[in-house]
Amino acid sequence: MKIVLLGPPGAGKGTQAKSISNKYSVPHISTGDIFRYNISNGTPLGIEAKKYLDKGHLVPDELTIDIIKDRLKQDDCKNGFLLDGYPRTVNQAEALETLLEGLGTKLDTALLIKVPKSFIIDRMTGRRVCKACGASYHVQFNPTKTEGVCDLCGGETYQRADDNEATVSERLEIYDAQTQPLIEYYSNKNLLTEVDGTQTIEKVFEDIVDILGA
Ligand code: AP5
Ligand code: MG
Ligand code: ZN
Repeated sequence: MKIVLLGPPGAGKGTQAKSISNKYSVPHISTGDIFRYNISNGTPLGIEAKKYLDKGHLVPDELTIDIIKDRLKQDDCKNGFLLDGYPRTVNQAEALETLLEGLGTKLDTALLIKVPKSFIIDRMTGRRVCKACGASYHVQFNPTKTEGVCDLCGGETYQRADDNEATVSERLEIYDAQTQPLIEYYSNKNLLTEVDGTQTIEKVFEDIVDILGA
């Protein structure tokens, strides 16, 4: 199963990705998580990426596309993968298509989690993320069982540096300008599917399973 998850910041991509990856046994590949991992380890990629993440801007396509090229060639992607936060530009989507063609395969679906902007600020400002495994929580909508400790792996949770109102509104503008066109891009290829992301986390997942198959 080869899936791309689409949706604005805070739509619930990371939250649903954990459950999808579990149920269908495909690796969850989040470019945002890869950048944050490199930032916290001070790698050359992290030092470069931080300049963009801190402002809520997109990391340049050249860097991002190379990361995905390397990642999708790894063995665990042979039977499928779930991309979360990639592609984010039409250029990235075209690069993905070429890459998959080269590997003799193609996408099964581009799944859009639809959430209006009015929901986003509350979701982002209350979010907590696991340092170790990247799982997303929310102080009100999806709290950890023990405050500050990840339910899945026991890692420490923290607030992302880009989860403040100013950076979130910048990310939303960039989403509209650069990522929103992917909805039409995948719709034209008959690959687009949609779920209503304003429902509970559990109901959104049920709808996703209806689309992907039990
Ligand atoms: P990235 O990490 O991908 O951030 P994003 O796209 O802005 O999306 P988020 O992770 O913020 O939201 P999400 O949809 O995963 O929501 P979540 O499930 O956590 O990217 C960060 C940065 O990296 C970018 O700004 C850019 O700089 C760079 N970058 C990454 N990829 C790139 C690329 N391809 N090209 C260039 N640059 C790139 O949920 C949010 C909150 O809501 C949580 O608190 C959660 O608990 C809660 N929640 C989730 N679902 C529900 C629900 N149904 N009801 C109530 N609460 C819910
Ligand atoms: Mg995410
Ligand atoms: Zn964790």
